[in-house]
Amino acid sequence: MKTIDLGKSGVMAPEIALGCMRIASMEDSALEKHVRTALDCGVNFFDHADVYGAGACEEKFGQMLERAPGLRDQMILQTKCGIRRNSEGACWYDFSKEHILQCVDRALARLRTDRLDLLVLHRPDALMEPEEVAEAFSQLEASGKVLHFGVSNMDSLQLALLQSAVGQKLLVNQMQFSILCSGMVDHALRANTGAPNAEDRDGELLDYCRLHGVTVQAWSPFQYGFFQGVFLDNEKFPQLNEKLDSLAEKYGVSKTALAVAWILRHPARMQVIVGTTNTARLQDICTASGVALSREDWYGIYQAAGNQLL
Ligand SMILES: NC(=O)c1ccc[n+]([C@@H]2O[C@H](COP(=O)([O-])OP(=O)(O)OC[C@H]3O[C@@H](n4cnc5c(N)ncnc54)[C@H](OP(=O)(O)O)[C@@H]3O)[C@@H](O)[C@H]2O)c1
Repeated sequence: MKTIDLGKSGVMAPEIALGCMRIASMEDSALEKHVRTALDCGVNFFDHADVYGAGACEEKFGQMLERAPGLRDQMILQTKCGIRRNSEGACWYDFSKEHILQCVDRALARLRTDRLDLLVLHRPDALMEPEEVAEAFSQLEASGKVLHFGVSNMDSLQLALLQSAVGQKLLVNQMQFSILCSGMVDHALRANTGAPNAEDRDGELLDYCRLHGVTVQAWSPFQYGFFQGVFLDNEKFPQLNEKLDSLAEKYGVSKTALAVAWILRHPARMQVIVGTTNTARLQDICTASGVALSREDWYGIYQAAGNQLL
């Protein structure tokens, strides 16, 4: 498994990470096997959030760490906070100092650990006070509860605004990115045109992150739309699947691995966060790390997904 220097910080992380959003319903033994297999494959980075399963995903993972305490030190453990929900299902965002500090204490308790390797702010809070976030981060760093910090779903100016206030380098920005959710590259390919998908929705985020050494973590690499389903072997995308079938044969990997290799081929050196709960699939996905797609094939997949080049 190739590694990435996360946010140019010296923290070396695997280019494929395991997301834990879907683990709540896994059997305990299956989860432990899944995690041990991930570690064996070099996937020692695990992504959580307090809202996954309303805390159940962190709790289940923590119970596993309690049963197998030797695993914790082999991992880079990341969780996210900042999304709130009440019992009626209403949702809002909260980057207040009080909420961030409370979230970390709760996450540490659920995960049965004394430290988070990374804390990520989950979705931009329109009411964010950067100085308040900075105070929370400094307190968390000084106490040793959090070693590094990052954000998720932020455009480049939001990231710059927050970075201007916090003392710690923001190492990561977690964004949805895949063959069928490629907005971060679409607009740059259509600059100066009125072509469809020419609008920039994230403030040139990919180039911003490359310029400032922030690692983009690509979430939901196999989904289309916002959790509408998996595009692989989906009859809605015949041209794309046909292209992936032929290139999978050429590169000697599965279509699943190829979909990850397409993201890894981008020179921004993104980290891909996969959410599979199937251990055989995870092992298969890891074969993507050795695949170097040619430019012709990378663009071929992009076009088979319905994108036009001028
Ligand atoms: N920052 C954010 O806002 C945000 C939002 C969403 C997610 N995330 C993070 O990203 C991680 C990944 O998200 P995700 O789970 O939506 O991503 P994903 O890896 O694109 O999707 C995984 C899901 O697709 C299923 N699947 C079916 N066929 C598949 C195939 N051929 N190849 C791969 N998967 C297949 C998997 O089933 P099996 O389990 O049976 O394999 C699993 O249910 C999450 O765990 C979370 O850590 C972050």
